[in-house]
Amino acid sequence: MISLRRSGLLAVTLPGLLLLAACGSNPSADQTSTPTASAPADSAQTKSAAMPTSAPFGKTTDGTEVQLFTLANANGVRATITNYGGTLTSLLVPDKDGKMGDVILGFDNVSGYQSPEFLKAGPYFGALIGRYGNRIKGGKFSLEGKAYTLAKNNGPNTLHGGLKGFDKVVWQAEPGSATDGQSLKLTYVSKDGEEGYPGTLTVAVVYTLTADNALKIDYTATTDKATVLNLTNHAYFNLNHGAGKDVLNHEVTLPADRYTVVDATLIPTGELKPVKGTPFDFTTPHAIGERIAQVPGGYDHNWVLNTATGEHAAATVYDPATGRTLEVTTDQPGIQFYTGNFLDGTLKGKGGTVYGKHAGFCLETQHFPDSPNQPTFPSTELKPGATFHSVSTYKFGVRK
Ligand code: GLA
Repeated sequence: MISLRRSGLLAVTLPGLLLLAACGSNPSADQTSTPTASAPADSAQTKSAAMPTSAPFGKTTDGTEVQLFTLANANGVRATITNYGGTLTSLLVPDKDGKMGDVILGFDNVSGYQSPEFLKAGPYFGALIGRYGNRIKGGKFSLEGKAYTLAKNNGPNTLHGGLKGFDKVVWQAEPGSATDGQSLKLTYVSKDGEEGYPGTLTVAVVYTLTADNALKIDYTATTDKATVLNLTNHAYFNLNHGAGKDVLNHEVTLPADRYTVVDATLIPTGELKPVKGTPFDFTTPHAIGERIAQVPGGYDHNWVLNTATGEHAAATVYDPATGRTLEVTTDQPGIQFYTGNFLDGTLKGKGGTVYGKHAGFCLETQHFPDSPNQPTFPSTELKPGATFHSVSTYKFGVRK
C-alpha cells in the first residue's frame, strides 16, 4: 500500500493563519523571462493581505473561465499556477547575482495549453498528472479479480491518465496562507469509471511556496472503490531559461543505484538494472549532455530511489551558467527523469520562446510506471477507507 496518513493536510489548510513574512515586492526581474501574467502580484492586495492573488487566465475551449494564482514570498520568489490542469506556469527564482528568472516552461494564457499543436505534442507542461502518472501497458489491469480497460492515448498504452487526464480538467481552487507560506488548494473529484478507472477518487493538491524558496506539493486522495493511482507534477525546468537554449549543461544527481528497464513502448520489463558503469549513473553529478547520446532518444526513465519511504532526497540539479540549484525531495519510491526529448521547436511559449529538443527537463516524483501490472513493484492500489498522502518539494538555491 502506498503511503497513508489520515490527517496530513490539516497543517496546510487551516484558514485564517496569517503568513508572517511580508511579500509582493517587485524583484529585479529578468525582463526576457518575467511572465506577463504574474503582474497582478504587484497589487496592493498581495502586499497587505499575504494571500495569493488571482487574475483571469482565459477561457477553456468549452467556455469555462479559469484563473491564474500568484504565490509570492518575501524573497521575491513567485509561482504562478492555474486551476486548468493544476498547472504550474511560471516560477521566478534568483540566480547567483540575485537576478530573477523564470525557470519553468509554459504559456501566457490557457489557450497555449489547449492549442492543437500542444495537444498533439502532448508535453504536459507543468500539469498535475493523474489518475495514473506514466504508462499502463495495453491500457489494462486487474484489481481484486476484476479486469479494467482504460482509454489508450500513447500507442498501445495509457499515458498520464488517458485522453482527458487531471492535466486537462478544471480544478476547484482555494487560495490560502499557512504558517509555512502562501498556498493554493486544488480539488478535483474524478468519477467512477472516468477514463476507465474504478472508484470515485477525490483528490486535493496543495501547492505551498515556502519562505526558503521551495515549492511544496502535497497530494491527498480517497476513493469509494479499490483503485490505482500515481499522482505527480510534470513541470519542465530550465534553470537558465531566457538565456539557455537547452539544459544539456545542467548537472544532475539522482540518489538511485537502479532504474527500471523499459521496452520499445517505454513499458518497464520488470528488471531493476544497476546504473553502475552506464549512462544512467547519476549517483555523482553529471551534465545531462555528457552521455545522452548513448541513450537512444534521450533520458525518459524511472530511477529507483535508494530510499523508498519517508521524506528523502530524489534529485539535485545545478546550472553552472547561473549558479541556480534545485533540490527535489519526496516520499515516493521513484523519479521519472525526462529530458524533453519530444520537444521539437513547434511550440512557442511565454514571450515567444521556442521550445526545442531538451529545452527543459522533468523530475516527476512517482511510483514506477505500469505498477498495476507489475506485482514486484511497490503497490499503487488505494482502498476505500484509506487516505493516500504524499509530499514532494522543489527547493531552489544558488551556488556561488
Ligand atoms: C513522461 C513520459 C514521456 C513523455 C512525457 C510527456 O515523462 O515518460 O515519455 O510522454 O511524459 O511528453
